[in-house]
Amino acid sequence: MALDPKILEQLRQEPDMPELDLGWLGAQTAPGMAAKPGRRGLTLAEINVGDYGDAPERTDHNTIRIRGSVPSPNAVRIGYFIPNKGDIWSDNSGRIYEEAVQRQWSSATDIPWDTIKPLPDVVEEAICQICTFLTEVEFVAGDAPGRWIGQISPDHFETVLFLITQVVDEARHLDVFRKRALANGCGLLEAGGMGRALRNIMDAKDFSEMSALMHLVGEGFVQTMFRTGEFIATNEAEKTIFQLCAQDESRHVGFGVMHLRYVLEHQPERREEFHSYLDKAEELFGHPTSMNVAFQESLMITLGGGDTDKGLVMLMALQKKQVTEYLHRLKVAGMPERRERLHPGMAMFL
Ligand SMILES: [Fe+2]
Ligand SMILES: [Fe+2]
Repeated sequence: MALDPKILEQLRQEPDMPELDLGWLGAQTAPGMAAKPGRRGLTLAEINVGDYGDAPERTDHNTIRIRGSVPSPNAVRIGYFIPNKGDIWSDNSGRIYEEAVQRQWSSATDIPWDTIKPLPDVVEEAICQICTFLTEVEFVAGDAPGRWIGQISPDHFETVLFLITQVVDEARHLDVFRKRALANGCGLLEAGGMGRALRNIMDAKDFSEMSALMHLVGEGFVQTMFRTGEFIATNEAEKTIFQLCAQDESRHVGFGVMHLRYVLEHQPERREEFHSYLDKAEELFGHPTSMNVAFQESLMITLGGGDTDKGLVMLMALQKKQVTEYLHRLKVAGMPERRERLHPGMAMFL
């Protein structure tokens, strides 16, 4: 088919090229700046030089502009709703983000799954009940911070980067406990044991409230349990799971401790507000109706190696350790007086 001669003529002509603008050249804010790798490589700490390192106390531009870049007159609003640094900041978030990136592991290939051998039925079911409980806890631990990621300004991106690593960590924790439940003939068991306490985390209307309830109360208790995982585990696979998860949880709990410390240092008038959040969380964790009976009994069976009397003694020791470490974290965060106000349902474990 022959081409239309008019179209042929148009194709032969040089296209109209716009004049180059190049207005963006020379816009750099720190000419000559060249960050150098440190002992741990080129981390966020190494590139936080000059104005690039100054996270503003308040940010109102509400656009996608990341700290340090030059404002654009064409920028549209995105709608990040938390302008105050003090409401979301933690001085360790850049460091624990880097650590999280460097210490990722795979539940598919880093767990010695072949060390799982047939167990007595009651022990296998107890392990699977613990795994069922933990898949729910881990799901909420990813869901809760995930809801806040889109609200934090790119001027405070370190917090966002840390929260993204937490969501990835919690995804892996959910999947590793689900995999263990399905790896030895039993599967998932009874659901829903910690619903009220987990709902309390999801209901938080303030980032710092969410962080206190989740990082300090919920994950703090889980972290202490993971660190005693060698007594719960029945094989190397389970030991490895608890060790790797504990390593991740220490970052999440560490963020919560340092965030609360930052808030109390910069907004001391909020101290009583945090006590009120902890009052409610402790009541839920300490209240008999919100305790997961199936989870507690499963721990007794696994801690005692099938001997529930021995398991009960070990469970009480674990609960005492959980409350003691919880109070220690609050002391480090700047709330040593919490010990005197501890809910009776928790104080009884001390
Ligand atoms: Fe977790
Ligand atoms: Fe966590």
